[in-house]
Amino acid sequence: MSLKELSRTLRIPFNRFFAFRRLRQYHASSRSLEETVDWAMSFGRYGYFTITTLQKRSEILALANAVKSLNPRTILEIGTARGGTLLIWSSLASAKVVSCDLVHREPQKALLEALPPPGSNCRVRLLTGDSHAPEFKQRVAAELGGEKVDFLFIDGDHTVEGVTADYEDYREFVRPGGIIAFHDIVEKQPFETNQVHRFWQVIKKRTDTEEFIDDPDQCGFGIGIVRV
Ligand SMILES: C[S@@+](CC[C@H](N)C(=O)[O-])C[C@H]1O[C@@H](n2cnc3c(N)ncnc32)[C@H](O)[C@@H]1O
Repeated sequence: MSLKELSRTLRIPFNRFFAFRRLRQYHASSRSLEETVDWAMSFGRYGYFTITTLQKRSEILALANAVKSLNPRTILEIGTARGGTLLIWSSLASAKVVSCDLVHREPQKALLEALPPPGSNCRVRLLTGDSHAPEFKQRVAAELGGEKVDFLFIDGDHTVEGVTADYEDYREFVRPGGIIAFHDIVEKQPFETNQVHRFWQVIKKRTDTEEFIDDPDQCGFGIGIVRV
């Protein structure tokens, strides 16, 4: 265990206390979508209980509005990370959000599962594993129990092979009229491994798409949606 991990582990009780206190503040009033997005971006850093998202506000708000217009029951997300986008989806889905990642830190899970606002019937299900593994796809299918999702957010493996595989593997779970969204579609990217734009250039030629891009000259970010 690294020194950083040891320090975080020792601070788990304090961070749990402050993170759940912060959650109660978030739950204290009903929130507009704009407020919910702001909470997702600024919930706070509490070691393993940190909730945040690396998104452009205008882009994620535009996506959240598109998702809200579907009156979603069920949402599937690949790429939980620090739970920022999960916070938003859990405020919109009326039945379930399934959020997948290679890793979910054990202490973090209870906080993420408690995200749906008071009065909501939404349940958060965290599935840990590699989205590209056939047995993982079977777990997703079992979790959905035959129900199609209204919205699929693909924000996991950003290599062109990875994002293509996630699209090909999971689009069958989206209902007709639903939406599939991808993050980091702009061509200029800070990392060589962010290759979603290469996938996006291909897919936008053969599907019904829309782009949410804050600034055409920006480096990184950009959200693309495919209407199923
Ligand atoms: C950009 S982050 C997701 C951010 C999050 N959606 C948000 O904005 O709040 C990408 C996440 O995808 C996960 N990931 C990468 N490859 C994956 C794979 N093959 N299967 C599942 N998760 C994966 C990483 O562990 C990471 O936490």
